[in-house]
Amino acid sequence: MTTPISHPFYFDCDTGIDDALALAYLLASLQADVRGIGTVSGNVSAAVGARNTLDLLQLAGHAHIPVALGAHDPQTGTFRGGAPHVHGANGIGEVSLEAAGAGLAQETAAEMLVRLAHEHPGTLRVLAIGPLTNIAEALRLEPELPRLVEEITIMGGAALAPGNITAVAEANIANDPEAATDVLAADWNITLVPLDVTMSNVLEESHRQELLAAGHPVPQALGEMLGYYFRFYEGIFGRACSAMHDPLAAALAVGGVKAAVAPVVQVDVDTTDGPGRGQTVCDLRGLYMDYPEQPGARCRVVLSLEGDFAPHLVATLLSFSESTTAAVAVGAAVA
Ligand code: RIB
Ligand code: CA
Repeated sequence: MTTPISHPFYFDCDTGIDDALALAYLLASLQADVRGIGTVSGNVSAAVGARNTLDLLQLAGHAHIPVALGAHDPQTGTFRGGAPHVHGANGIGEVSLEAAGAGLAQETAAEMLVRLAHEHPGTLRVLAIGPLTNIAEALRLEPELPRLVEEITIMGGAALAPGNITAVAEANIANDPEAATDVLAADWNITLVPLDVTMSNVLEESHRQELLAAGHPVPQALGEMLGYYFRFYEGIFGRACSAMHDPLAAALAVGGVKAAVAPVVQVDVDTTDGPGRGQTVCDLRGLYMDYPEQPGARCRVVLSLEGDFAPHLVATLLSFSESTTAAVAVGAAVA
């Protein structure tokens, strides 16, 4: 049996219930070595997201991973208060975690990304699952960033699917379309994981029950958070279940799942003030000829997966139960 290659990762998030799932997935994955985490305002403010991230890291026995505060406001305008109706007022479904002892890093999220890129030239992977404000800022700080980073995976956008914040726009892109434009225009290996694939791979109540029954506080806390998330998605899918935006992006970034259809196409972001603001305009005109090469295009847009994602996600999260890294009593850590 060969040992999987572990890739250094910078993780940028707006923690958030599905961000929490993605973080836990990365920590459990043998293919990811998370070297730093930055937060950005999105589901919650960057500060609340950082607090949630620190608390989750402690619960998972990874309190040594540094967390840097990122942008509070998007490039244009101001943070508009997040999505408490989706993620709860505290961002993690009103689940209370024991407060972490660790504090924030002495650098911004963008500075952390630039530092890690120089420390791991050509091998650092970036996973961005919130608005792209920090990543755009890092590109301004270090224009050589695309050359230093092996690849960037982004949860965001909607190619052929409807939007989730307006008729056409997905939340991460809509919360900072100007930053998304800068990031998608940079010359690096980009994988975009849009709503097309994250809304068509769902987690069911039976999966949530498996997490709740786990003998470890991390899957158990995630199962509790998902109770809140499922209530929001019941209004969309008509049953207790949820989309899997961020953990799916994490799994694609580490190679835990593979894309089936993922053409490399031109993607532009609408930054007008009209009804299209925040839309990712993906050039999918090659659909009828199996997506022939598009000269100049650099963004791989994942439209479908090989296999079923939910069982893989649950199995990976349940692997916490086999680890001895977090010797925290369930009752004491998850209030
Ligand atoms: O549109 C879904 C995305 O927006 C996810 O990353 C979710 O966490 C929110 O940030
Ligand atoms: Ca997110």
